[in-house]
Amino acid sequence: MTESLTIRRPDDWHVHLRDDEMMRGVVPYTARQFARAIVMPNLSPPVTTTEAARVYRERIRAAVPAGVAFEPLMTAYLTDATDGADLARGKAEGVLTAAKLYPANATTNSAHGVTDIDKLSGVFAAMENSGLVLCVHGEVTASDVDVFDREAVFIDRHLTRIVQEFPGLKVVLEHITTSEGVAFVEGAGRNVAGTITPQHLHINRNAMFAGGMRPHAYCLPVAKREQHRLALRKAATSGSGRFFLGTDSAPHAKEAKESACGCAGIFNAPFALESYVQAFEEEGALGSFEQFASLAGPAFYGLPVNEDTVTLERVSVDVSETLDIGGTSVVPFHAGEKLSWRLSA
Ligand code: NCD
Ligand code: ZN
Repeated sequence: MTESLTIRRPDDWHVHLRDDEMMRGVVPYTARQFARAIVMPNLSPPVTTTEAARVYRERIRAAVPAGVAFEPLMTAYLTDATDGADLARGKAEGVLTAAKLYPANATTNSAHGVTDIDKLSGVFAAMENSGLVLCVHGEVTASDVDVFDREAVFIDRHLTRIVQEFPGLKVVLEHITTSEGVAFVEGAGRNVAGTITPQHLHINRNAMFAGGMRPHAYCLPVAKREQHRLALRKAATSGSGRFFLGTDSAPHAKEAKESACGCAGIFNAPFALESYVQAFEEEGALGSFEQFASLAGPAFYGLPVNEDTVTLERVSVDVSETLDIGGTSVVPFHAGEKLSWRLSA
């Protein structure tokens, strides 16, 4: 049995670091595990310009513990009013790495999202020319579409066309949750990739209803049927360079989730690598973990791989029921469970 696994230090290609006290509480968890992270812009109000991303990056950097090397990679939130020239400048100045497409009202703080994707052609062209990656929350928001079908319908109605019309645009279909998402990425060109979260490798939709309503298993896109979870495991462990790690760690206060209208989001940053590696081990695929966690993402983004390494050891870890994040109680993913791997200090 493998007792320890050493790989190049991974990056997190999708994380919510929030702001203020919550940010200062969660940044150390992400910075401990990852060298870089693509930081989501869905603050309130959202980060929509190069200038806003520049100052948000400074706030994040100030929250990184002394002696820890961590680089936030910034994104701008696309709206109906986005200026493509500002995004291109942000990329050229080394501030922006990607821009994020949230269809309006798809999820937490997405009220400002894009109402008509067809009107973004000029912005997509500017991104294509400047090499700025498009990160996509791939769900339609039409209320007549079943919540479990929203990813597949988004691919059919929008994504297929965006990818065809802008063949040079790098597109990440984020936090894929369906076999349709996997098939779309596999069938697309080299400019298209997908990220996969730890929760979607571990839970299917039953987890939200196990003996009662389980708000801490609720995130967006919602977990789907078991057949989809298995397709995601196959994709993640395939060794393909087109699927890579993106935690979608999304902390919310415990009471904001345990509510009549609970927030979507799972806080997995404290044990993200431990959670992923357990899924890879269950699939007999420890050998492809480095590709998924540390190599495929930089290759897609055109960035160097990290030079230092991390080691995961086979040690049983108890995940606490709650964590105090800057004075707020937050329930982590795997709360109350035992994990069988631990990231070495
Ligand atoms: C995210 C959040 O809380 O910011 N929630 C989630 O369930 N993933 C928003 C998002 O990325 O969809
Ligand atoms: Zn997210």
